[in-house]
Amino acid sequence: MLPHVGPRAFLRASQVALGLVVLNIVSGAAVRLSDSGLGCPDWPNCSQHHLTPPLSLHPAIEFSNRLVVVALCIVAAAVLVLALAQRPRRRDLSWLSAGLIAGILAEAVLGGVVVYSKLNPYVVMTHFMVGIGLLTVAVVLALRAGRAPGAGVTMVGTGIRRLGRFMIGVLLLAIAAGTATTGAGPHAGGKGAKRIPVPLTDMARTHAEIVLVLAAMTLALLYLLEHRKAPAKVTERGRLLLVAMVAQGVIGYTQYFSHLPPLLVGVHVFGVTVVWTAMLWFYDGLSHHPVLGTAEPALAPAVGGVVGNVGDVGGASAPAEVGASGFVPSGPGR
Ligand code: HEM
Repeated sequence: MLPHVGPRAFLRASQVALGLVVLNIVSGAAVRLSDSGLGCPDWPNCSQHHLTPPLSLHPAIEFSNRLVVVALCIVAAAVLVLALAQRPRRRDLSWLSAGLIAGILAEAVLGGVVVYSKLNPYVVMTHFMVGIGLLTVAVVLALRAGRAPGAGVTMVGTGIRRLGRFMIGVLLLAIAAGTATTGAGPHAGGKGAKRIPVPLTDMARTHAEIVLVLAAMTLALLYLLEHRKAPAKVTERGRLLLVAMVAQGVIGYTQYFSHLPPLLVGVHVFGVTVVWTAMLWFYDGLSHHPVLGTAEPALAPAVGGVVGNVGDVGGASAPAEVGASGFVPSGPGR
């Protein structure tokens, strides 16, 4: 018999899981940036005959990263149990919690392959991208846990939604190019690791150019949101996304021109988790969802394709344009 847990307790648990996923990505980067990649030469044991590391820096850093993974496993298992214990049980939360476990297992196996492949850069890139997949599951889980079940209501037209989806794709491309930049750069994670045979300057330029395209798209998006008088909450999230992106871009250029100091590169990796989370949060905010503790969206029905009083949505009182069909439920919430 599973214990009953309220939706707010579940929300907290999913937020802890999200925090640990971010910590896992950043601690993984700390391993690489401190050249501790082969600090524990074996897996899951640190060395052939010992589970724990000897008292020295590199094995300790690599082992700490593994401990973060253990903590994440425990919290993710608890999140899954709590999701299954919810009454009524929500299918979306149960599946996302299971996805969290699947992502962690994939990351753990790939982490082992990274060690066995002696830090092959293509495996390291895959490891990072799967980490982004895991972060996506954790963010969506935390967002959905924070609201009541039920369909969302679209707050903007289909054009803006499409642009939002396209921007997610471009950001994913920028992240992949970033991992390739790392693969071509000096921070392999250990001595003698193979490098991607592309000059670092070329790879960094390609990476930065994709980011510039994305920044231009974000500006265009903000213009559209203002021009079409989108609800204040949507525009606000768009602005915060731009701020996160600009900050990350400034860190990117600074680290590049200061010859990649490990600490700054670590901040850049943390910035990746912030920008990606901001992007998902922005896209999620294009629909309004029932608030936790209620059953219905706190929105008046649409009249003639225009949202009426948007009530608690960021305090916006101006009407917002929506698609030609007016209020559009954005899909099943459970
Ligand atoms: C939205 C903005 C940006 C995002 C999301 C982003 C994302 C990333 C990612 C995912 C990595 C790989 C991290 C890893 O494998 O551990 C990376 C590395 C890198 N990025 Fe960016 N980046 C952004 C902007 C920039 C800009 C504008 C520059 C300017 C040149 C830049 C320069 C670099 C460099 C040089 C690396 C390699 C660092 C290393 O040696 O590990 N980034 N970036």
